[in-house]
Amino acid sequence: MKKTTPDSPSSQTSRRDFLKKSSLLAAGAAALGNLSLARSVHAAGGDTIKIALVGCGGRGGGAAVNALRNVALPNVKLWAMADAFPERIKSSLRGITEAIDAKDKIDVPEERQFVGLDAYEKTMGSGVDVVLLCTPPGFRPMQFEAAVKAGKHVFMEKPVATDAPGVRRILAASAEAKKKGLAVAVGHHLRHEKKHTEVVRRVHEGAIGDLKFLRVFYNCDGVGIRPRQPGETELQYQIRNWYYFVWLGGDHIVEQHVHDIDVGNWFAQAHPVEAEGMGGRQVRIGKDVGEIYDHHAVEFTFAGGLKMFSYCRHIPNCWESFSQHAHGTKGTVDIQGHGTSVLTVDGEKPLKFRREHDGHQIEMNDLFAAIGSGASYNEADWAAESTMTAILGRMATYSGKIVRWDEALKSEIDPFPKNLSWDSEPPVKPGPDGLYACAVPGVTKAW
Ligand SMILES: NC(=O)c1ccc[n+]([C@@H]2O[C@H](COP(=O)([O-])OP(=O)(O)OC[C@H]3O[C@@H](n4cnc5c(N)ncnc54)[C@H](O)[C@@H]3O)[C@@H](O)[C@H]2O)c1
Repeated sequence: MKKTTPDSPSSQTSRRDFLKKSSLLAAGAAALGNLSLARSVHAAGGDTIKIALVGCGGRGGGAAVNALRNVALPNVKLWAMADAFPERIKSSLRGITEAIDAKDKIDVPEERQFVGLDAYEKTMGSGVDVVLLCTPPGFRPMQFEAAVKAGKHVFMEKPVATDAPGVRRILAASAEAKKKGLAVAVGHHLRHEKKHTEVVRRVHEGAIGDLKFLRVFYNCDGVGIRPRQPGETELQYQIRNWYYFVWLGGDHIVEQHVHDIDVGNWFAQAHPVEAEGMGGRQVRIGKDVGEIYDHHAVEFTFAGGLKMFSYCRHIPNCWESFSQHAHGTKGTVDIQGHGTSVLTVDGEKPLKFRREHDGHQIEMNDLFAAIGSGASYNEADWAAESTMTAILGRMATYSGKIVRWDEALKSEIDPFPKNLSWDSEPPVKPGPDGLYACAVPGVTKAW
């Protein structure tokens, strides 16, 4: 992490430095003044809040609909859209328009439909107040940095990065966002569902005693494959089929299982300090499935010795589970990700909490409420920790070694191409047989 520089001795402070500092302070104060004015206008409901969607895929369309349906600030408009590929904008705009009754909430003419790898920057200059960052996670650090620099409130999808340098960039940009008074939400919708908040609160209040261990699962069939298209470059192919490339998607332990890992960290009110684990690919073999594993099993250790056992699998016809469990000295909590939570204190009747509302909507209601009230709102720090925890797990399964948090967070392994454009070389390529190499425990350097 960046260290603060000690102040220079006053004898060495030149008048020029002093003026520079004063004008920066003045500019900062003016910016804050404008911002609080802008937010009080939002609070009064007298202003239309303009939204940009960056990444017009499945979740992006859903996030835009949730934003337009938020119950806190009804005066919102979808104003700009950006995607790497033009057809994604068209289909997404169609889908959002069909889903929203109040068509006047959608105002995205051709001139505010931006296409390309730099399209996100153009949305920031289109007069919007809020950006929804829903691209593949490898792009998140650069797009979050740009949004904060441009002074936008942000909703960004999880995970927030695919490697440690990306996590550090998110943490740095998050600190800037706080200084600028920007609201930042992250798509960990479970944190907003009552069936989660109620049981986690009770666990923190001691309902099941001291935590003994945690178990978290994301075991399912897997996710869709996007086959290579005629005439497509290798980079276009990888960005379209991003799930299967670590530099873009992070592997499914990071992209998907981060939901459960995040709940584990939430129970523990901390991040682990160490991880070791095993993983591999047993059925995920072929030219279409990139370089990611199909299973990971990780034992995370928190300071003080608490363990979290984490399992994620993408193999059809096996036991499926999207769930989180806390075991304490006086009872247990069992949460089905999108089902019911059961809190059992030993010897007492279990308490049940059903899923009442979809957290994807609630998280957007909460973000817009904060924008309206001007309340400080930042989910980026703990989300960055959860993403880093999942990356720590991947480092353990890929390397076959024990990985410590402090070393992992300092990792300089950053495969994301610098100054990415459509002419860039992707960081991984298929071999002569068309297959991509994947990590080999005992051989792969993972941090
Ligand atoms: N919170 C949840 O429940 C949830 C559910 C699904 C997905 N997600 C997350 O949402 C994100 C997107 O997932 P998805 O399922 O919508 O994927 P998707 O492939 O359907 O959509 C991604 C979109 O981003 C576009 N894109 C790629 N690179 C871009 C770039 N540089 N600039 C602009 N656009 C770019 C793609 O063309 C595509 O349209 C991921 O981070 C994923 O983990 C979260």
